[in-house]
Amino acid sequence: MLWWQVILPGLYEGWEGLILHRLTIPLVDLKKQYASIKQEVNRSIDRVLESSNFILGAEVDGFEKEFAAFCRAEYAIGVSSGTNALSLALLALYIKQGDEVITTPNTFVATAAAISHVGARPVFVDVDPDTYNMDSAQLEKTITKRTRAIIPVHLYGHPAEMDTVLKIAREHNLKVIEDACQAHGAEYRGQRVGTLGDISAFSFYPGKNLGAYGDGGAAVTNNRELAERVRLLRNHGSPKKYYHEIIGYNARFDEIQAAILSVKLKRLDSWNAKRRANADTYQRYLQDMADKGLVVTPKEMNWAKHVYHLFVIQVDERSRDKLIAHLNARGIGAQIHYPIPIHLQKAYKHLGCKEGDFPVAEHAAKRIVSLPMFPELEQQEIEYIAQEIKSFLK
Ligand SMILES: Cc1ncc(COP(=O)(O)O)c(C=O)c1O
Repeated sequence: MLWWQVILPGLYEGWEGLILHRLTIPLVDLKKQYASIKQEVNRSIDRVLESSNFILGAEVDGFEKEFAAFCRAEYAIGVSSGTNALSLALLALYIKQGDEVITTPNTFVATAAAISHVGARPVFVDVDPDTYNMDSAQLEKTITKRTRAIIPVHLYGHPAEMDTVLKIAREHNLKVIEDACQAHGAEYRGQRVGTLGDISAFSFYPGKNLGAYGDGGAAVTNNRELAERVRLLRNHGSPKKYYHEIIGYNARFDEIQAAILSVKLKRLDSWNAKRRANADTYQRYLQDMADKGLVVTPKEMNWAKHVYHLFVIQVDERSRDKLIAHLNARGIGAQIHYPIPIHLQKAYKHLGCKEGDFPVAEHAAKRIVSLPMFPELEQQEIEYIAQEIKSFLK
């Protein structure tokens, strides 16, 4: 396959257009996915519109049961976002002002923000260079007498190493909240993520492996008490209309999103399988560059089932930004997840961290590139992307 064969016709702009054309392979192609399920999704939306029941009804109930079954967990509680799933999980565990919660600096800011929202202090542990997830070997040294919980993040769709996290948590009497916002369906030693700790958080942000058509999230747990507390917290502390047992929030999941996700959830295992097949195709096409040390491709640990929310490679930091510009100019939606680790973000200046505190996360942040990844991605598109990487790097 040649590069021009995947460029949509009509996008050329003179001679320049032979090289520079508009974006043709986005990072995530939600339009393609919608086209494949359009009738069923539209029918499910119509059903909710006809019922005119928009908040916490049969659709949310049904989806919660289906999502709990998908995770092989007892309970799933639909909430308004992944961020709120994390915050409500922390609140349900009575984590509060003055407490410390350990997580990693290489994650979306929401992981740390949720800790801040409940008044606690995020404390960071550096990441493992192979998985980009919490380096559990460094976890114990960050524990103080204020530490109450650990939030391992299953970043990019690869599970964090949980045996050590769970062992240390048991020894120090700490709670474990999994941030599974990028890892629907990923497995750790055969067990679905989201069921390993005390409680977990999933995001249904549109671009996620299971994405709504708006915001949404879920807390998942096997603990009935925690499930009930999250259920109360998400809806003004109310078990029954206008009866309020605790002061809660409006963090509800809505009926239209639940109906849409019920349609999508049936396909999630097969979509994840396609992501994994696409990752294999990328590995094949990038192999010779990896052998020459020009790129580092994602690893899947032998205890992990990766669901490739993102396909993240590394290149030399001196050429990273130019490579992204090169790919973007050729219609390839490459991006960085995430360019600045949380401890170096302006919003977290008050923590007093400095450059050099988490060298593995900082090193990765300068080198990582996320390549297009979604189930509908085609082999010739991956071949084109790999060719463009090769032509730039040589
Ligand atoms: C790792 C991680 N944690 C938390 C979140 C927050 O989820 P949401 O955007 O649904 O609030 C996200 C998603 O954006 C995420 O990727």
